[in-house]
Amino acid sequence: MSYEFILVNPQIVPFVATIQLNRPKELNALNLQLMGEIRHALETFDADDSVRAIVIHGNERAFAAGADIKQMAGRTAVDMLQIDQFSTWDSIRRTKKPIIAAVSGFALGGGCELTMLCDMIVASETAQFGQPEINIGVMPGAGGTQRLTRAVGKARAMEMVLTGNFISAQEAKEAGLINKVVPVELYLDEAVKMAQKIAEKSPIAVQLAKESVLKAFDTGLQEGLYFERKNFYMLFATEDQKEGMNAFIEKRKPEFKNR
Ligand code: CAA
Repeated sequence: MSYEFILVNPQIVPFVATIQLNRPKELNALNLQLMGEIRHALETFDADDSVRAIVIHGNERAFAAGADIKQMAGRTAVDMLQIDQFSTWDSIRRTKKPIIAAVSGFALGGGCELTMLCDMIVASETAQFGQPEINIGVMPGAGGTQRLTRAVGKARAMEMVLTGNFISAQEAKEAGLINKVVPVELYLDEAVKMAQKIAEKSPIAVQLAKESVLKAFDTGLQEGLYFERKNFYMLFATEDQKEGMNAFIEKRKPEFKNR
């Protein structure tokens, strides 16, 4: 399939794919088609054994400045309900392989929410994160009130959601929203490096580990611990577990086969 609003590279380095949001004039505003294209690309990569980790990025000026306000402005509540745009986001959330957001410039509204849907965030020093929907008479709709609050705590989330204030990359790092801040010329390389490091692990162990960490958001502690335990035990049915442990004992590098 050819895409209009994203650029994909299935192998920027071995086992790592990238998706670049590509509506630069509109600061990568997330219209419905663009989100559908991201979903399609992620589903394709999820089914492709030559991809083990995915990096989503924009350009230096913007990761994404939010949902496309021009596309939404005239819609009624019934339109919004029937279009059901967030089912696409739910599908993105179900991606099995790890996704890293590489962020420079604006990550606002739906753009900030998209970074939080990813598993890790690497940002340039110029990145700004915000939920400014309140300035246009609405509120976050793609998980911002929930994921941001879990990531940065109530005080900061309330401030961002109620005042529309942005936070810098450094503040986002200190608040625990993102993983790394690097100079602007390095943000994509650094995200790809992180993805590459994950791609060296057993893909099946990575998949179950990601699923288990995400479970912490959906459930109480005891249920989460049972879920984690089941996935941990299940990995002992894999060849990768035997290879990984034997390689450690034999002091050599493991060769994982995703089996
Ligand atoms: N939707 C549609 N178009 C957008 C956009 C958006 N979210 N953000 C920017 N653009 C467009 C602008 O309209 C402008 O287009 P024109 O050149 O045709 O006028 C172009 O991108 C460049 O933007 P600016 O001229 O505004 O650039 P700036 O540097 O002066 O300001 C900005 C940058 C502060 C990010 C500003 O563009 C802005 O405030 N954007 C909107 C941010 C926002 O409110 N995001 C939340 C959207 S709602 C949402 O996301 C709901 C949800 O939870 C899913």
